[in-house]
Parts: sequence; C-alpha cells; structure tokens
Amino acid sequence: MNLEIRRLRKDGRIPYDLLLLADETIEAIDRYILQSEVYILERDHKAAAVYVLYTLDADCVEIKNIAVDEKLQGQGIGRSLLEDATRRATIDGYKTIIIGTGDGSIRQLDLYQKEGFEIFDIRKGFFIDNYPAPIYENGIQLRDMIMLRKQLT
Ligand code: ACO
Repeated sequence: MNLEIRRLRKDGRIPYDLLLLADETIEAIDRYILQSEVYILERDHKAAAVYVLYTLDADCVEIKNIAVDEKLQGQGIGRSLLEDATRRATIDGYKTIIIGTGDGSIRQLDLYQKEGFEIFDIRKGFFIDNYPAPIYENGIQLRDMIMLRKQLT
C-alpha cells in the first residue's frame, strides 16, 4: 500500500486519541513522546494512523507506539507503517529496530513476525509492575512484554 506518512513538527498536535489505542495512559505516553519522532498518516486532514520512533542508542531505535484508527484497521495500514518505520530507520543509519508488545497481543505478534521481527527478549512482569490496574487483551491478562527486533544491516 502506498501511503503518505509525514513526520509531525515539534510544535504539531500530538494525536493522543490514536496513541491511547496502543498505550494505557497519557502519563505513560508522556514518558517518551517529547523525546521521540512522531510519524502520521492523515485522512481528511485528521490523523488516522501514527507510529513513534525513540532512539535507544546510535545503533538501535524503538517503535514505542503504533496505532491505526479503529475504523481503518485490518486494511494493511499497520503493515505499511511498519515498513515505513523500517525504511526510515535504515536511512537514518540504525542497525536494529525493536518493538515490544504484550504477551496476550496475538494480532500484534502475528503482524510483527510477518514483517520480519523476531522475538529476542521477554520482560517478565512488565505490565504488572508498570501499570496500576490489570490490562486484558483477547481475554488474557497482560503480564510480560515480548520484545522483537529486526536487523537492518
Ligand atoms: N487477527 C489476527 N491477526 C490480525 C488481525 C486479526 N483480526 N488483523 C490483522 N492481523 C494481523 C495479520 O498478521 C495481518 O496480516 P494479513 O493481512 O496477512 O493477515 C496483519 O495484522 C496486517 O494487518 P494490518 O491491516 O496492516 O493491521 P492494522 O492496520 O489493523 O494495524 C495495529 C495493526 C497497528 C496493531 C492496529 O490494529 C491497531 O492500531 N491496534 C490498536 C493499537 C495497538 O494495539 N497497537 C500496538 C501496540 S504495541 C506498540 O504500540 C509498540
């Protein structure tokens, strides 16, 4: 899918409504958003999908958040965002791109692995230790964060 995805200017409006589809609270988002680059796909002059790149070190960048408007999910946009993130990270000279998701996030794990990401770590107890209330997805309480990575070079 060929979509126009642009980087949000530093004074641009942060699309919290979309970011909250992928993260539980505004406080959690605010821990990384101002130190990150935010990329947006617009439909009808409104943000319809977003991903967020956070530099971990000179070699490694993390997709901290990726989300597609609920009405537009399941049409290949998420896949296009991942491809765009991988392309930009490669151009920017990173060697690895990583992404983390919950142990019950079946759809996301499916998508990321189809896009060439491989599991390399499990952060035990992440969703228990870092969030005040239990989080459920697909009827499964999220406990561990599954970390996946893709080598770029
Ligand atoms: N069940 C299982 N897998 C599915 C389903 C489903 N219902 N729908 C999509 N997928 C998987 C499949 O692998 C699919 O590939 P296929 O078409 O070959 O079967 C793949 O996803 C591609 O689907 P897209 O249409 O590109 O995905 P979409 O545009 O819906 O975006 C996303 C995926 C970003 C996860 C979206 O659904 C979303 O915004 N969800 C809510 C927010 C979220 O959970 N974000 C990720 C949290 S982790 C993080 O942000 C780091």
